[in-house]
Amino acid sequence: MGNDQTRDAKRKTIIAGNWKMNKTVSEAGALARSIVEGLAAEPKGEALPEIVLCPTFVCLAEVLNQVKGSPCKVGAQNMDYRDSGAFTGEIAPPMLAAMQVQYVLIGHSERRQFFGETNDSVNLKVKAALAHGLVPVMCVGELLEQREAGQTDDVVRQQVVAGLAEISAEQIAQAGGAKVVIAYEPVWAIGTGKNCESPEANRVCGLIRGIIEEFYSGKNIASSVSILYGGSVKASTIDEQMQQEHIDGALVGGASLKAEDFLPLIKGGAKRLKSFSHA
Ligand code: 13P
Repeated sequence: MGNDQTRDAKRKTIIAGNWKMNKTVSEAGALARSIVEGLAAEPKGEALPEIVLCPTFVCLAEVLNQVKGSPCKVGAQNMDYRDSGAFTGEIAPPMLAAMQVQYVLIGHSERRQFFGETNDSVNLKVKAALAHGLVPVMCVGELLEQREAGQTDDVVRQQVVAGLAEISAEQIAQAGGAKVVIAYEPVWAIGTGKNCESPEANRVCGLIRGIIEEFYSGKNIASSVSILYGGSVKASTIDEQMQQEHIDGALVGGASLKAEDFLPLIKGGAKRLKSFSHA
């Protein structure tokens, strides 16, 4: 691993939980508390991955409160791209930033499938997140029909290129990490229990890294962008996933809803970090 520059220890390993439309405020608070307590019970001194909890908007304040002083960060699941105005029901980026929310999922496939999100709206939102100091986790991934028709690589390429359109290398780069995170979530693997085999997930994540390399050629961006895999990640799959060269973490749905399911995934991320220190 020592001479493998693409598996870069400087790139953040991230384990993120997307709680989707689950949990009341008190349930979300209890889950965040159990995760924090579970982490506190672990032996001290072990490097942890970046841990990001993404509850619904109404639970953000409670989860932020519960994770105070812990290693956990908080993300929103969506946002509007505009700063304010007559857009009933929407949440604006400055509102999230003012709460100390640090991450925001953008273009999750459920937003694309059920709420009319497009590559163009994803691009506007990624730009807005960066403008407000939020780290966008831009989600991409093909539908089953697209995979079966051999269109996976084209679909993912289009989503990545359109999502990053008109965003400069300077907007993306920052010392010690990257301001943009990409999550590869094949839609057919989400919530189905059928995860994408690790070598194939790694191949597509590598393809994404290659696209970023072309897009920002010569700017040294691609090796610092964390690329996560999402789709039925669980305790029995995480170790293999975290051994892959281009998979820098996981975006987890179902297995993020209980501390006893999520904590082993954080451990999986920690093992990846440990493998760097032995590289
Ligand atoms: P599952 O882990 O439930 O498959 O969900 C993945 C996902 O959509 C995370 O954003």
